Amino acid sequence: MTQIDFIRSLPKAELHLHIEGSLEPEMMFELAERNQISLPFDSVDAVREAYQFSNLQDFLDIYYQGMSVLITEQDFFDLTLAYLMKAKSDGVRHVEIFFDPQGHVERGVAFETVVNGIHRALIEGEVKHDISFGLIMCFLRHLSEADAFETLVQAKPYRDKIIGIGLDSSEQGNPPEKFQHVYAEAKKQGYHLVAHAGEEGSADYVLQALDLLKIERIDHGNSILDDAALTQRVADAGIALTVCPLSNLKLCVVDTAENHPLPKMLAKGLKVTLNADDPSYFGGYIADNYLVMAQAFDLDRKTLVKLAKNSITASFADTSRKQDLLLELLERALA
Ligand code: ADE
Ligand code: ZN
Repeated sequence: MTQIDFIRSLPKAELHLHIEGSLEPEMMFELAERNQISLPFDSVDAVREAYQFSNLQDFLDIYYQGMSVLITEQDFFDLTLAYLMKAKSDGVRHVEIFFDPQGHVERGVAFETVVNGIHRALIEGEVKHDISFGLIMCFLRHLSEADAFETLVQAKPYRDKIIGIGLDSSEQGNPPEKFQHVYAEAKKQGYHLVAHAGEEGSADYVLQALDLLKIERIDHGNSILDDAALTQRVADAGIALTVCPLSNLKLCVVDTAENHPLPKMLAKGLKVTLNADDPSYFGGYIADNYLVMAQAFDLDRKTLVKLAKNSITASFADTSRKQDLLLELLERALA
């Protein structure tokens, strides 16, 4: 069995996936036509060629432009189902999907259109393809905390469809402390809490996200290694990092796969999971992210199984689902 087949055969959870970042150029064109929207590209190839980024902001500018083709509930349904089919072929059995409601509401798309389309596809994925799920609503950190509060209010009627709150977009200059009041309110309302921290921001941003936002998982977390005490604390507490290798490469957070901090993270006892982030923009889905690290560091099967195990135990799936997936993973590892 080839390495990629082995990786795909492992039951795993995807915990860091922006659904808008799974919009493939082919679907971007299809939806642009369906919704009579003009794109600043004349071919699928031209779109792919534009996906060269030197930092996070470069990417975000194109990412927000790309999502402008998403208008109707059916668009959000089609986008999500297409992602789930890719995930299924990579062995994903549980997904926790991020979405950016502010990126849609500010374009005049109703909150309900977004949530209902994504959620309907997630239900179909669960019923027809046995992929359990959670939906996590992210606040855009370049906007104000007041705007985030408004988004939290808009989410209220859909409380049963959304399990958690995240924080994404431009990290530098938008520290976690900016959102501490809205996170406190979200915690009161019973949401799970996560946040992007330490992608381009310093280890201090990770510390703030833990202490001020009270997050349960760290999205990215690369810069944590700059602070030995913090690294020890996060390792001891078993707080998971949702690491995204191909994203780190495409956004120049790391220069080569061989310089990725994954081995150091593992050596420090950090609970690392591997994820795709924005697969259509970064050149690969979750199995490709496992593969690039396996090849760069000659990871053995035991380590690949450990990474898949971490993804299941770090998820917000219920206990019985976790037990089922862990049992399947164990059977697979022993086969
Ligand atoms: N939005 C989508 N992908 C993101 C990332 N990797 N970092 C911050 N915001 C994002
Ligand atoms: Zn992300």
